[in-house]
Amino acid sequence: EKGGFKHFMLKEIYEQPRAVRDTTLGRISLDTGKIFLDEMQITADDFRRFEQVYITACGTSWHAGLAAKFMLERLAKIRVEVDYASEYRYRDPLVGPNDLTILITQSGETADTIAAQRESKAKGSKTLAVCNVVGSMIAREAAGTVYTHAGPEIGVASTKAFTAQLTALFLITLHMAEVRGKISYDDARKYMEELAQLPGKLEHVLKLDAETEELAKKYHRASDFLFLGRGIHYPIALEGALKLKEISYIHAEGYPAGEMKHGPNALIDENLPVVIIATQDTRDANSVLKYEKTISNLQEVKARSGTVIAVATEGDPHIADHADHVVFLPEVPELLSPILEIVPLQLLAYHIAVRRGCDVDQPRNLAKSVTVE
Ligand code: F6R
Repeated sequence: EKGGFKHFMLKEIYEQPRAVRDTTLGRISLDTGKIFLDEMQITADDFRRFEQVYITACGTSWHAGLAAKFMLERLAKIRVEVDYASEYRYRDPLVGPNDLTILITQSGETADTIAAQRESKAKGSKTLAVCNVVGSMIAREAAGTVYTHAGPEIGVASTKAFTAQLTALFLITLHMAEVRGKISYDDARKYMEELAQLPGKLEHVLKLDAETEELAKKYHRASDFLFLGRGIHYPIALEGALKLKEISYIHAEGYPAGEMKHGPNALIDENLPVVIIATQDTRDANSVLKYEKTISNLQEVKARSGTVIAVATEGDPHIADHADHVVFLPEVPELLSPILEIVPLQLLAYHIAVRRGCDVDQPRNLAKSVTVE
């Protein structure tokens, strides 16, 4: 049942090229540049009329929502707010009929996300689910569902559902950008070509397995870890930290790289491994600018004798001068980079947890589906 893998989590990490491919399949046209979402009660006119998007979710799915904010604002040019479902439902959100609510959920059964959905519906907002389980509660109650085709996820720590969610959210973004006239079909087609290449690039990234195992060997005794990122890479820093804490029980924090000097720099010493996401799309000036800022944050960590593990883009000639270890990823458009970046962080968490003798698939105190509040 584990297909020759030692744990479901590892098997599911390795299924990500397939999960991303299946989630894309049949939804893009490389000929016309058009996106095809599943049948739903949200029309093109609705997508044009919406003034704001509210995204609500929990845990890993919330991290996918944070990344989606960058996608939607940049390409579909619509305001986005992202909330934890457990917070959203109790803060009397200003959501209304002119807003779209997106629920992101692997299981479709998370109690707080169901309650958030009902709150939005009661206020007249249409709800769109990004969900991995057909016929689940949230999918049934939504005006539309874009299913992630990750397949059943058994490991409690979410992996392939997350990369499939990022893929689905990118497709929703392209669709909204198209119907709102914010992107040309030609530009959309370029993104689709990149999407089509992602599974192959993911296969390539999975070859980092041995390298991350080496890193785990070196750092599995650490009592704390810091994960840093800027812009769309920040949610991935949060997700990398969550993966590590939930399966290895090491205290880990994700932080926006630029916030370090406002407090967390005080934590840095030679015992604190700092994972920094320092990728770039060299064709994108904004991405390069953020990269340069991240490099200066990285130098600040080194200056305080911190240990730096950098996640960078292949061909980066300078990164090795600044970091103790570098993990290289293929170059992709920035908005798609989270799908690759999370993979070495999942593998790192996995190998550290295995070395510490933890129950990777069934971490203590956690359930796969959280149906209580
Ligand atoms: C972490 C993890 C949880 C879930 C969260 C939401 O690895 O799996 O944080 O992401 O409980 O669950 P769903 O997506 O089923 O609503």
